[in-house]
Amino acid sequence: MKTESFNGKDWIDAELDFTKEEWETLIDVALDLKRRYAMGEDHTHLLKGKTLYTMFFNQSLRTRSTFAAGIQQLGGFHVDLEPGKTYTPARKGYEVPYKTERICDVARMLSRVGDAIAIRMYGEPAQWIYGFANATIKEFAEYSDVPVINMECDKYHPTQALADMITVKEKFGGFKKVKFVMSWAYSGSTHKPFAVPQSLVLAPAKMGMDVVFARPKGFELDPEVIKKCHDFAKETGGSFAETESMEDAFKDADIVYPKCWGSGDYFAQVDENGKKIKNEDLDGMKTLFDANKHWICDAKKMKLVKPSGIYMHCLPADRDMEVTDDVIDGPQSVVIDEAENRLHAHKAIMALLMGSRI
Ligand code: CP
Repeated sequence: MKTESFNGKDWIDAELDFTKEEWETLIDVALDLKRRYAMGEDHTHLLKGKTLYTMFFNQSLRTRSTFAAGIQQLGGFHVDLEPGKTYTPARKGYEVPYKTERICDVARMLSRVGDAIAIRMYGEPAQWIYGFANATIKEFAEYSDVPVINMECDKYHPTQALADMITVKEKFGGFKKVKFVMSWAYSGSTHKPFAVPQSLVLAPAKMGMDVVFARPKGFELDPEVIKKCHDFAKETGGSFAETESMEDAFKDADIVYPKCWGSGDYFAQVDENGKKIKNEDLDGMKTLFDANKHWICDAKKMKLVKPSGIYMHCLPADRDMEVTDDVIDGPQSVVIDEAENRLHAHKAIMALLMGSRI
């Protein structure tokens, strides 16, 4: 296995920055760690005495619990720095005296005393300005001497994508000729970033799958992400296609991943210096959402997928909006497997980025 390139690296735009071979190594390491955990084999030597700092600007169950459990199982220690209880880290130009602390100082200080910094930020804490949270995490990386890990920003959710690729490998044995559908689905909440859908078109395209992206008008993703998906498909011999029909996308699919995200048409607008010139329009967004309530994953649509096809979702799912109970609780659903694999994905990321090469 080729692991030299991992040590000390950041995990931020990981679908773009890590090669297909590196993703395969991460999947192998995660599955090895999963086996060791199941067999009760001690692997606490891997990150013995190392400290992971986490900062959640948004709520979390899976990411928070699995990073905390994962570092402990690797012999390390976890400190949750709750923004608001610490001085909230802020980018230059967004500071409030004695309430915030400039990121360059926070990142340099934590680098002296710990071994990695993991951050989640999107939506309200990033003012609904697309890219603001991603830039915030990159500002940490600029000043940090230790790896910075993106636990979901407004552009990508790469730890989720890794866990999902592990799940695909387990269910299908590989990626070639596997049809993967990333689809928009309705929710009563419009407060959802592009992170999951963007990561979950990029990662399967990178791994060489046949990816179909389905969404109603108004729910397009970042054009640069779509371009990268086409590039990856060319490089790997996979394919990438888009459609405005959930039913068309589901036909003969091996995997469907119906999930809600917000409409970029209603996000905040910024000027050329990144300053907000128009607020987000959540009422306009809601009207668009309500016109697309029929984008729900139900038993009728699941009849269109292959008999061996599976239903995936990152969770939390909005039941009776994104998906019906009989689908998410049914035999084709692998959502709890995906959530479990967050643990093994995060352990692989931490072991390779934070671990010693001796
Ligand atoms: N899928 C996911 O990231 O879950 P949490 O929001 O609970 O961390």
